[in-house]
Amino acid sequence: MSFCIAIDGPAAAGKGTISKAVAAHFDMPHLDTGLLYRVVGARMLAGLDPIEAAQTLDPADFDRDDLRTPAVAQAASKVAALPEVRAALVDFQRSFARRAGGAVLDGRDIGTVICPDAEAKLYVTASDQVRAERRYLELTEKGQSVTRDQVLADLQERDRRDQSRATAPLKPAEDAVVLDTSQMTIDQAVAAAIAHIQSRRLA
Ligand code: DC
Repeated sequence: MSFCIAIDGPAAAGKGTISKAVAAHFDMPHLDTGLLYRVVGARMLAGLDPIEAAQTLDPADFDRDDLRTPAVAQAASKVAALPEVRAALVDFQRSFARRAGGAVLDGRDIGTVICPDAEAKLYVTASDQVRAERRYLELTEKGQSVTRDQVLADLQERDRRDQSRATAPLKPAEDAVVLDTSQMTIDQAVAAAIAHIQSRRLA
């Protein structure tokens, strides 16, 4: 039996951490769909046509170690506004979502477009300041040289683009539970997510 857990939200809201913990808790595979767009964005920066890059996506590229840079994040957000790029990535995500035994997908449009009939939907968010601080710490821990102001501006630019695009814009699904993690520890956010999903599994 399949059971799709859709976790959406803006950049650096905690989706990745929560999704991994939820996947481990329920023993389900996890797909970070942002990686698909990051691979396409990185290949565009290397000179490839983004639509062709999306149509020839190779999941082996998800392990590339250059995907977590601010430049690739911006490129990902730009290619994600192209309807042909999004269309090329739908089947891969939907078949992952409907794996037997269930699956966790995190992204921007999982609950609205990829898996509108997902059994559990969460929209994870946090204030701009909190998200920027978390992303700043993450990037500087990896040795990247960025300022807090740059990180905040970068997130806000990406969110604006992701929310205002015509195809599959970032927004909560009508039936998603909104989890604002601004004042939560990671453990609290994970516990709240698991509690909601558990209630949906019993429903
Ligand atoms: O989750 P992330 O920060 O790795 O995503 C990078 C970009 O990819 C994000 O700014 C918008 C795009 N994206 C998308 O449009 N739809 C998704 N399901 C996931 C990511």
